Amino acid sequence: MHIQFLDAATPSAGLLVSLVNQDALPAAIEPVLAEGARRSRFAGKVGQVFEGFAEREGKVVRVALAGLGAADAADRAEAAEKGAAAVVARYLVSGETSLALDFTDAGLTAEEASRAVLAASLRSWRHDVYRTKLPEDARPSLTTIEVIGAPEGTETLWSGEAALAEGVAFTRELVTEPANIIYPESFVARCQARMADTGLKIRVLGVEEMTALGMGALLGVAQGSVKPAQLLVMEWNGGAEGQAPVAFVGKGVCFDTGGISIKPAAGMEDMKWDMGGAGAVAGAMLALAKRGAKANVVGVCGLVENMPDGNAQRPGDVVTSMSGQTIEVINTDAEGRLVLCDALTWVQREYKPARIIDLATLTGAIILSLAHEYAGLFTNDDTLAADLTAAGNASGDRLWRMPMGPAYDKMIDSPIADIKNVGPRWGGSITAAQFLQRFIENGTPWAHLDIAGTVWTDKPGATWDKGASGFGVRLLDRLVRDTLEG
Ligand code: BES
Ligand code: MN
Ligand code: ZN
Repeated sequence: MHIQFLDAATPSAGLLVSLVNQDALPAAIEPVLAEGARRSRFAGKVGQVFEGFAEREGKVVRVALAGLGAADAADRAEAAEKGAAAVVARYLVSGETSLALDFTDAGLTAEEASRAVLAASLRSWRHDVYRTKLPEDARPSLTTIEVIGAPEGTETLWSGEAALAEGVAFTRELVTEPANIIYPESFVARCQARMADTGLKIRVLGVEEMTALGMGALLGVAQGSVKPAQLLVMEWNGGAEGQAPVAFVGKGVCFDTGGISIKPAAGMEDMKWDMGGAGAVAGAMLALAKRGAKANVVGVCGLVENMPDGNAQRPGDVVTSMSGQTIEVINTDAEGRLVLCDALTWVQREYKPARIIDLATLTGAIILSLAHEYAGLFTNDDTLAADLTAAGNASGDRLWRMPMGPAYDKMIDSPIADIKNVGPRWGGSITAAQFLQRFIENGTPWAHLDIAGTVWTDKPGATWDKGASGFGVRLLDRLVRDTLEG
């Protein structure tokens, strides 16, 4: 979506949309529109859209009103996002190619207005590359949004948000692509292409290097696939020289069949998005670089494909992780933790990060606990919990803290090795987190986000269509802004 800021209220767009507050129609509005809005029960509630036509200066113009809710409501930024995004959802395939979004009567701050523009941009994202027969009238037509009447400073703020929109879009693209297109090597290639000239430093470890490092857990998952595993590392050094970075670590299982502990056929296609953690890390790194974040951050993606094959690992196999700890693989479908544990060990030894946050579509159990409303937050550090929860609430990528402790940790003791990769049926998301914690060294502040319920959606949300939500990018960007950039 092309976003254009216009100074004067002289849009060239074919459609004029006024953002209005609840029960506060603009005084200047034509009586016929006011009557139309009233008769249509348009009150200006959040996300409500009313449309009509008016004659202005001898020309018939298409006009719409979009609701922002009560002017004194608590979360105006969120309301602004919903209002602007609703407009885009409504007109994306309407035939209109441009619309003017008029903030004159909205009474928003620059911050809130820029969030509205961000939401408009996010809501316009689609991935139509494989639709060769989309009828003309079902194709997106809207290409330009002209912003008018926005408060002073909105445009400057938007330039930072534009980077964020790019990051979210990149994550959605990676998550949406099927597994024959995005597999470990092509994931890396797409990141390299997208991140060229951004200042991000990219490193890639192949199978040979990971073998030499002793990453037996990650490589054990990958060995059933003909697609070689990759460890992708993206460094952003925008902060003080020598300052320990924050590390983001993503689960990048480009397809999860379950391996020999194979999943049922129904719904298995969903497992193309089992790289949503890695996708979020890649998108967040892109956003940080594009807006020139003043922080040191390293992003690591453990990329594999989990397949059943003559060479696949078997239930009961014992593998040795890079940390030296041995793992009994009870269930080859609990593969995410096996990938992450070696990525976690590697990033700690290589970068001595001040904080570590991993993101993973790790367990179906987290969906039973939290449905699709929150991602699960597991951490060894209360301050990090508070920072992440605040970033979640501010960004809309919400987190709910879950318990951890020694009683849960005991559940993954193995009779033959140091640890086993699954516990009993109960508390499956928690034992998965306990597994990861065993690979955190010297009490480094660490958090694990189980995003299995929030990466993919069956119905449209405020700022996304159904499908890939881009969850995690706005969260990580917000965390960096609020805890590292001050
Ligand atoms: N990728 C899945 C978890 C998942 C399930 C993500 C549904 C998104 C939607 C993960 O690798 C997995 O298979 N987990 C198992 C763990 C079990 C074998 C202990 C699960 O959740 O069933
Ligand atoms: Mn699995
Ligand atoms: Zn998985």
